[in-house]
Amino acid sequence: MTVVTPTPVALATPKHFLDLDIMSGADLRRIIETSKAVKAKDFPNGNAKPFAGKALAMIFEKPSTRTRVSFEIGMKSLGGDVVVLERESSQLGRGETVADTARVLSRYVDCIMVRTTREQKLMELAEHATVPVINGLTDRTHPCQLMADVMTFEEHRGPIQGKRVTWSGDGNNMATSWIHAAVRFDFELNIACPANLAPPRDVINWAQGQGGKVKISDNPQEAVKGADCIVTDTWVSMGDADSFDRTEQLRRFQVDEKLMKQAKPDAIFMHCLPAHRGDEMTAAVIDGPQSVVWDEAENRLHAQQGILYWCLGLL
Ligand code: CP
Ligand code: NVA
Repeated sequence: MTVVTPTPVALATPKHFLDLDIMSGADLRRIIETSKAVKAKDFPNGNAKPFAGKALAMIFEKPSTRTRVSFEIGMKSLGGDVVVLERESSQLGRGETVADTARVLSRYVDCIMVRTTREQKLMELAEHATVPVINGLTDRTHPCQLMADVMTFEEHRGPIQGKRVTWSGDGNNMATSWIHAAVRFDFELNIACPANLAPPRDVINWAQGQGGKVKISDNPQEAVKGADCIVTDTWVSMGDADSFDRTEQLRRFQVDEKLMKQAKPDAIFMHCLPAHRGDEMTAAVIDGPQSVVWDEAENRLHAQQGILYWCLGLL
């Protein structure tokens, strides 16, 4: 009997989509343009079922409506398949390690999306997976949402490069991804937030080190001047458990009609959703003529199809 010794092969590093700061601006632009083309049904290579024979696993350690549905429909409508794992109904909830989960899932599927708590778990999954891993939100960032947001901005206001976006509210995971996006897509970003709820210092330092046009202040009225877009998010993110009253601190950062009027007359309003009318913005703003939040929600679907094209090596 001849014993065949397998020759070690150098496996290519999977094309993970983990965070905007560790991606190149050129790749991100390519994904955005692909997303726009797919939305217009102008499929790369004319193939309307590019994900045929491909499967995506989605791990949820936090709740979701948009991310779950848009990834599932986004995958299936282009010929692919999905499987969903929730923490409590999988062995993750009984202590199986993230590393082992990554190794096993990599034998079944072509890509893994994860929504989790600590950034470290996302990185551990990526380290041990042999297929691409997509960040579907962590306590620190939400890059898929930003791809949909940039796409939505450009649909309504043209190229985002050189434009001004103002964030008013909590300096949370969305704010951090907006900072990453400002640097990678080269637009101005004014963040107005309470000093104790500012985005992490290392993120601000990174943006400054990259020459990003990112300003942080606690003055929303100043920050919105000349803005092409005003954006906010919930005052209490999933997993936030503070001893202080966030509402008390964030009240003066609420996006209301008066604040919208201090931006450019044609400024758009964005919010990743879910929204809380009467807290981070008034109903008049989110349900008003400047709001593009439903296009933004729809674009999760198309933006993630662009991300999947890239991760699956189809671009
Ligand atoms: N914006 C967003 O990620 O929504 P879900 O939490 O519903 O997925
Ligand atoms: N900052 C919010 C975003 C939800 C999509 C959260 O993390 O709960």
